[in-house]
This record gives sequence, C-alpha cells and structure tokens, in this order.
Amino acid sequence: MVFVGYSVWAALQTSHYAWGPYISPIFSPCLATSCGSHTDLALFGRWWVVSPALIVAGFPVGFRLTCYYYRRAYYRSLWLSPPACAVREPHHRYRGESRFPLILQNVHRYFFYFGILVAVMLSIDAVRGFDFPGGWGIGLGSLILVVNAVLFWCYALGCHSCRHLIGGRLRHFSRHPIRYRAWKIATVLNARHMAFAWASLPCVVGTDLYIRLVSMGVFHDPRLL
Ligand code: FES
Repeated sequence: MVFVGYSVWAALQTSHYAWGPYISPIFSPCLATSCGSHTDLALFGRWWVVSPALIVAGFPVGFRLTCYYYRRAYYRSLWLSPPACAVREPHHRYRGESRFPLILQNVHRYFFYFGILVAVMLSIDAVRGFDFPGGWGIGLGSLILVVNAVLFWCYALGCHSCRHLIGGRLRHFSRHPIRYRAWKIATVLNARHMAFAWASLPCVVGTDLYIRLVSMGVFHDPRLL
C-alpha cells in the first residue's frame, strides 16, 4: 500500500520528475509539451496543465492491477474473496471471476501488450540515461534506470499471458524450436513472477524518488564515468 500510495502521489506532481538525462518511469513516455526536452511525442500541448503522468499512468497501473499475482494479494487482503483456505467466505456466494465486476480482469491479456510497450519505453529511457549534456557518461541514476528496466522486463515476460502467447495452442513444440526456447525462458521467469512483481514495484518508486530528490537538489547524482 505504501508503494501504491507513493506512486499515486508522485503521478499527481507537476515538477521534479526529470533531471538531466533521467526521467521518472512514472512519467514515461511523456506525451505533453510540459516535459520540455523529455517530451517523446507532443500529443498534449500547453493546454495540458496537470501532471503528464496522468496521460499514460492507466497502462502500467492496469497491467499490474489485473496481474494474477497482485490479484491474489488484494483478493485475500482487501476483497476477502477468497480470504484463505478454510476461512469462511464473508460474501453470500463465491463467484470467482465469472461475474461483473471481476470478470473485467480478463482484460489483462490486452494490458500485457501495453506492458511490453512500457518495457520498451523504459529501455529507451535507460539508454538515454547515459546521454548527459556534456557527452555520454555513467551516473548512479543511469544504473538505477537500467535496473528498473531489466526488472520490468523480467516481470512482463514472466506474465502468464506472455507464456500462453508464446507456447499456447501448439500441438508440437518440436516443430517450433524458437517458440519452445522462448517459452522455456518465459516459464523460468513465470516461476519467479511473484519475486519480480515485488522487486519491480519498489524499484519504480525508488527510481522516481531518486530522480525527484536529485532534481530538488537534496543530493547530487554521483558520476561514475
Ligand atoms: Fe502478472 Fe500477467 S500475470 S503480469
């Protein structure tokens, strides 16, 4: 809840989300001109006066919110359906995800496609994080952006929808050796999906916080090269 609360607060801010070559993952891709040199596509002009994170936040939020792992966590702790094994169901009837509103969770497979776009964008931001005004270099923030992108890729590629997309509906893996190899990688990541879900969320928060504090001048970004 702490990470979610911080993310919501950060997404509503209109300043200190970028510094030098770094941009917070919560604000990327930036589609508003208010992002200045960090604008990726100026779809939203000067009339967009609220936080540019609000334009894109729905995609990563939807991706995580409908993720099977996070679902399990908030079904048990907040929705209380099912609360746990052998614990009485507080609702009249357990209907699983067969009725509204939980049936809407099926959109997860579509959010997965957006999740891949988010991962691509984070990778581009990670590369840009080495492009300082005076030339290419390495700052602590550059490495943090790389770790953030790698963790998000591991999280996204371990998604159940991804694994099904790669290896589902195949009768013979032997006739699809490339898909089989990709499926094996997705399977390894899938087995650690919970760990990557937990690691990537605080990493997004930590990356935003780091860039925010550097931008506010609380401390300097150490240059390693
Ligand atoms: Fe977790 Fe798809 S199941 S991201």
